Amino acid sequence: MTPLIKMNMSFQALGFLLILSFIHAQAVKLRYTFVVQETSHTRLCTKKQLLTVNGQFPGPTITAHRGDTVIVDVINRGNHNITIHWHGVKQPRYPWSDGPEFVTQCPIKPGGNFTQMVFLSDEEGTLWWHAHSDWSRATVHGLIYILPRLGTTYPFRQPDAEVPMIIGEWWNDDIQNVFEEFISSGVDPPNSDALTINGQPGDLYNCSAAGTTRIQVESGKTYLLRMVNAAMNNIAFFSVANHSLTVVGTDGAYTKPLTSTYIAISPGQTLDILLEANQPRNHYYIASKLFNAQRSSPFDKTTTTAIVEYTGNYTATSPPIFPVLPAFNDSNASFNFTASLRSLASAEHPIDVPLKIKKKLLFTLSINLLPCAVNGTCERPDGTRLAASINNITFDMPSTSILQAYYRGVSNGVYGDDFPDNPPLKFNYTQETGLNASWRFPETRTDVKKLKHNETVELVFQGTNLVVGIDHPMHLHGHSFYVVGAGFGNFKRSRDVPNYNLVDPPLMQTIAVPQNGWTAIRFKANNPGVWFMHCHLERHVSWGMGMAFIVRNGKTTNARVLPPPPDMPSCYHAWYVTLYNWDFPEPLANSCGRWPEHSKAMMMITFYLPPYLGMAATLEMWLQPCCEFCTSGELLYLSLCVSDK
Ligand code: C2O
Ligand code: CU
Repeated sequence: MTPLIKMNMSFQALGFLLILSFIHAQAVKLRYTFVVQETSHTRLCTKKQLLTVNGQFPGPTITAHRGDTVIVDVINRGNHNITIHWHGVKQPRYPWSDGPEFVTQCPIKPGGNFTQMVFLSDEEGTLWWHAHSDWSRATVHGLIYILPRLGTTYPFRQPDAEVPMIIGEWWNDDIQNVFEEFISSGVDPPNSDALTINGQPGDLYNCSAAGTTRIQVESGKTYLLRMVNAAMNNIAFFSVANHSLTVVGTDGAYTKPLTSTYIAISPGQTLDILLEANQPRNHYYIASKLFNAQRSSPFDKTTTTAIVEYTGNYTATSPPIFPVLPAFNDSNASFNFTASLRSLASAEHPIDVPLKIKKKLLFTLSINLLPCAVNGTCERPDGTRLAASINNITFDMPSTSILQAYYRGVSNGVYGDDFPDNPPLKFNYTQETGLNASWRFPETRTDVKKLKHNETVELVFQGTNLVVGIDHPMHLHGHSFYVVGAGFGNFKRSRDVPNYNLVDPPLMQTIAVPQNGWTAIRFKANNPGVWFMHCHLERHVSWGMGMAFIVRNGKTTNARVLPPPPDMPSCYHAWYVTLYNWDFPEPLANSCGRWPEHSKAMMMITFYLPPYLGMAATLEMWLQPCCEFCTSGELLYLSLCVSDK
């Protein structure tokens, strides 16, 4: 690239930040640097390199106030492509920073960087950030604390301290290997080697006692646990011995205080929990284990622990007192906890449940089968591999960004907009046995559902029992939704709609649809852009349980998607080829085009040369940032395979 163009670029970038600052003028700006890098960590006596942000596992916490703008300079010093998602941050009109790979952006390549804007709006409480490409989120994640605006307070007694509480996993193997083997096997992925609390397995695992997370509390004080389930593939139960837990928020919105002896939390979900140090001075275990309603399937039955230690002089019980957790397969314990959440719905934190619905959607969630891929080494004896679908469509992840294709108006070949409003295949979804085996095979497509700006949407998720029924924690990007109803069995409009909670339904972004049951959500499509919706069980989204909504622009200029930043990671190679004859000044042929950078297929340009030219023809290749399809400032690399046939 010429120096002239470089200079141009930096002016562009400066102008861009100025425009954004103007739009979000009143907000405080904070800046963080996230260096994505391999760092060595040891757990279970296994030392390994893992992908981290700033060397930390789990990653750094972002702290901001409601309505702030956080700028994060993401620098990829790892050896994998990466994207970062700010889970639960709505990013009004700015899907460019949202992060899901190939939905809103192409990945940041090793050596690349991307400055992401995190536009907080009405979120308050706890959210989190995580990688959103392959399975790298296993180690690349951290919390986002969103404090009340300066001058306002929590809608509950000011806690004496705030404590991070991240449920995660440790894998002795490299997570990229785990992912690749899982994909080629066509079956369930292996279990992690340990569950973790704040990155530590705890003293019930071999070789882990020394690192156990210990939380010092003072008698009489109140602690705010800011919790996320960052585990890959399972809902988790969690409890603290002899202490009750008071939930006051979920997914960045306050709830009515809900007191319970245990909690259930979905991958992707966050909870704000008050813990009062009101028990006799002692040591108490905090414990978490996985929940899996799918009785037959093997899963990790180990328990991760941390220890609450009261300060002062006393002799602690040894080992510490252990809490009671629900059984592994206790569907009612999981369902009842989640169904008990209620919005705070106060004067300071009012709610706005859509009452008049314009768009009614019913989406089935299924585990499916697909023929084993060519060259695959599928382990299933019947020559199939496991897949998953929404409304019978297995989401085929494109190799370029849907958002960029949409914004440029070139959807052709990237996505279609035929995602059905209702299941194309109607049957008794939750029937225990005897479902037609041929229904297990879904279609594979990349389809979006377009919504009008400000359209009110009711979406009912219906679990099915194809292949196997299981809970699906469904997550929507760019919006929060009200969970207005849920139940086991098939959704029945005439029976279930009258029972909706339209008074104080919880405002969430990730909701576990119960095994062989249904969940109804409502939201207003008030955020223009492309927004991914998917199951937050990593194996299910890898199998295709995802789709995207496109929320159209509104009529006014402040209801339109903002322009992309100049440093969007590039999606295309632009290429330009000119063919000359040695003896002739005029070019014989030339060609220009684009090629998805992340496409696995090899590009082949074929020139038909008149036979008399033979070896006398030369080929000149120009790699130019020339085409209308190139994002400005990208560096172009291209290998051409040119043949004379
Ligand atoms: Cu927490 Cu699409 O993700
Ligand atoms: Cu799922």
